[in-house]
Amino acid sequence: MTTPGLALDFTQASRARVYNYLLGGKSWTEVDRETAQAVIRTSPDAPAVARENFKFAGRAAAWAVAEFGIRQVLDIGVGIVDDVPLDSVEICVHNVDPDAMVLAFDHDEVVLAHARALRPGYGGVLQGDVRDLDMIFDNPGLRHPDLADRIDLSRPAVVVLAAVLHFVDDPAAVMAGLRERLAPGSVVIVSHATSSHTGEERVDGMTAAYERGSSSIIFREEEAIASLADGWDLLPPGMTDVQLWSPDGTYQEEVYETVRVVGMAAMLPQAPGSEEVSHAALAS
Ligand SMILES: C[S@@+](CC[C@H](N)C(=O)[O-])C[C@H]1O[C@@H](n2cnc3c(N)ncnc32)[C@H](O)[C@@H]1O
Repeated sequence: MTTPGLALDFTQASRARVYNYLLGGKSWTEVDRETAQAVIRTSPDAPAVARENFKFAGRAAAWAVAEFGIRQVLDIGVGIVDDVPLDSVEICVHNVDPDAMVLAFDHDEVVLAHARALRPGYGGVLQGDVRDLDMIFDNPGLRHPDLADRIDLSRPAVVVLAAVLHFVDDPAAVMAGLRERLAPGSVVIVSHATSSHTGEERVDGMTAAYERGSSSIIFREEEAIASLADGWDLLPPGMTDVQLWSPDGTYQEEVYETVRVVGMAAMLPQAPGSEEVSHAALAS
């Protein structure tokens, strides 16, 4: 099955453009602004939490690359990043390993159009729907001759799923699909909007704002989000609010209460009885 991408449509809000508005980017239209403003009216911390989520994704991916010597990163549901005044996953990863391969995917044609327009010739953003992992892992872009020596899915990869699984009905199926396709020692970075300790009226208000913009979002309880790491080894510091996430506990920003996004990093363990992965060897 191949899932068609989201076509360019400027009459309805796009999750990528609404998020871009929240982040202070310039790639949105009036309907996106209205949706984002409705979210902010319900949850005034939404722009700050969006920025912290963006920073979490870059911080966690760069940490995984540096800590485990992993040299290939797949950022699925990348969003529009080039006009955002913050360092993207790609920039953060290249700060710690300039040669690491970073490939991004999104199902929204607007994200690809932006990447093509702002960085002509850049092949690092590909069409891909996280609900259709075959579309991503069988993408000829992964096997482009120029990349052949750098994308090798028999070796560990970092997969970033930042603020994308709350747009998906069955996130556990995505995690199971990744377990089947990734090499042991791979690291997944997940962030997800939660309804826990936020207030029902705020969650309802934000959900309604997205729905009015003809989009949707699913806030889940922390317990349901934590269970996405079943079958993976949760890495320190476990699941926390994104603005508190750092393996050594040194990144401690303000806790926001009107909207919460939690994040975690988890490693795919060896199948029982198989040889242990040597991360030192990965860096070679
Ligand atoms: C809130 S933005 C997050 C962007 C970025 N990952 C971050 O955390 O900064 C969500 C992105 O996921 C994309 N997205 C939503 N559903 C998706 C799906 N089923 N497959 C791939 N991308 C998806 C949207 O188009 C949007 O660009």
